[in-house]
Amino acid sequence: MKFFIDTAEIDEIRDLAATGLVDGVTTNPSLIAKSGRNFLDVVAEICDVVDGPVSAECVALDHETMLKEGRKLAEIADNIAVKVPLTPDGLKTCRVLAEGGTMVNVTLCFSAAQALLAAKAGATFISPFVGRLDDIGQDGLSLIAEICEIYANYDFPTEVLVASVRGPLHVAAAARMGAGVATLPPNVLRAMFKHPLTDKGLAAFLDDWAKTGQTIL
Ligand code: E4P
Repeated sequence: MKFFIDTAEIDEIRDLAATGLVDGVTTNPSLIAKSGRNFLDVVAEICDVVDGPVSAECVALDHETMLKEGRKLAEIADNIAVKVPLTPDGLKTCRVLAEGGTMVNVTLCFSAAQALLAAKAGATFISPFVGRLDDIGQDGLSLIAEICEIYANYDFPTEVLVASVRGPLHVAAAARMGAGVATLPPNVLRAMFKHPLTDKGLAAFLDDWAKTGQTIL
């Protein structure tokens, strides 16, 4: 499973990229607004730090303007994945960009039927929002299972990019289902390292090691 980082905070991206575990980055208009940075500048900076796909989202709703925005975003760097919403205009734009060789991430997916449309439109990634479905009392992870099953049935090359991830349990469950990518808020990636028995075991090992009076170096 590939891990993308779901943030536009460049310091966080640098810090986490240093772990060697980061395969890409996703942004959205809310994350850009939170960063307080110029959209095009911050996305270019992220593309310099991370080699893998960096999602940058269009904001126009009509196909013609969305396509212009997508082409402009795609010019920023070779690793840009243009993000379009799961609407008829979004999928029309997806088709044109994909046929021109641009990676496309179709976002705001909340049903298996929508995911099927995105795959047929040639999306590189489909972003089902697990946490937002959980928030309204639906089972976000069931959607991941449905999409993985459908894509496998037809050998669609579109990658399932699990989005709106709230914690490590979402990630592990989606990985069991075979989802190709999860985009993680920085705190979720950090939380994945944690287990109380790891901390406890490490403290005990170091205590015992100190008793030996030895050093390795
Ligand atoms: C990523 O591409 C999505 O925009 C993001 O995961 C949404 O997450 P949220 O539901 O926490 O805002």
